[in-house]
Amino acid sequence: MSSILDRFRLDGQVAIVTGSGRGIGAGTALAYADAGADVVLSARTLSQLEETAGKVRAKGRRALVVPCDVLDPEQRTDLVDKALEEFGRLDILVNNAGGWPPKPTLAVSESEFEECFRFNVTTAFEMTKLAVPKMVETAGGGAIVNISSAAGRFNARGFAAYGTAKSALSFLTKNLAQDFAPKVRVNGIAVGSILTEALSGFMNEDLERQMLAKTPMGRLGEVEDIAACALYLASPAAGYVTGEIYGVNGGLTQIQVEMPPVEF
Ligand SMILES: NC(=O)c1ccc[n+]([C@@H]2O[C@H](COP(=O)([O-])OP(=O)(O)OC[C@H]3O[C@@H](n4cnc5c(N)ncnc54)[C@H](OP(=O)(O)O)[C@@H]3O)[C@@H](O)[C@H]2O)c1
Repeated sequence: MSSILDRFRLDGQVAIVTGSGRGIGAGTALAYADAGADVVLSARTLSQLEETAGKVRAKGRRALVVPCDVLDPEQRTDLVDKALEEFGRLDILVNNAGGWPPKPTLAVSESEFEECFRFNVTTAFEMTKLAVPKMVETAGGGAIVNISSAAGRFNARGFAAYGTAKSALSFLTKNLAQDFAPKVRVNGIAVGSILTEALSGFMNEDLERQMLAKTPMGRLGEVEDIAACALYLASPAAGYVTGEIYGVNGGLTQIQVEMPPVEF
């Protein structure tokens, strides 16, 4: 007898997850493996990729490790080529590699601003252009999940580079959904504060207290909070969802990190 839970399964599917050596990317890759997919793991640090691959294999799924810096066009092409060589099909792409710390706006250089945009927006666009024709050719269609941020949704001091880039990623997601429907669905997640290495880098007790006070759900997020949404958006359960940015952020209505005002 069929069950609604069958629609959350990814049996026989293949997913590429960028930035999957740790954090949200690793958690998403493991969620996809739980749901029956084989996964292509990519980031720059081989040892972390091998660690994630071990966990995928322990779940009985296949894992391919392809070290790749998403900022490098040749390495991006190599990533998609190797995925197809190994598995013969591509169903899902998660554009997760990204990030950028907040910084006083007048101290952000032109090159930093552009690099932030390239890391968070251009790389997702280029990966998508490589993946979509292959998804259609090898699997008849597919799903893309872009990992955006609450910083792309709410305005705040110090987020001129990162917030603007993630906002562009969210808008790009909506535009691409129009381009590629009905064969390839494109959705995004506006991620709140999730306890990963990216966050722990500048976390302290005071900041945590400040952040929790602005978080209606009263806790910071876990990688699995995002992975669960990334699974839904990639799976047939979301077969009628495209061009959406889902907020997974503990109920935020503002950015939790308060940067000092600009001093003139
Ligand atoms: N954590 C949060 O609170 C939060 C909030 C909002 C949005 N997000 C977004 O969520 C995504 C993942 O963040 P995270 O918190 O999971 O970060 P993380 O724990 O630091 O993990 C980032 C992953 O991306 C990889 N990566 C970094 N630079 C890369 C590059 N140039 N090419 C390929 N891979 C690269 C890292 O491995 P290597 O360094 O080995 O390459 C690592 O595997 C980012 O897009 C971030 O903007 C996070």
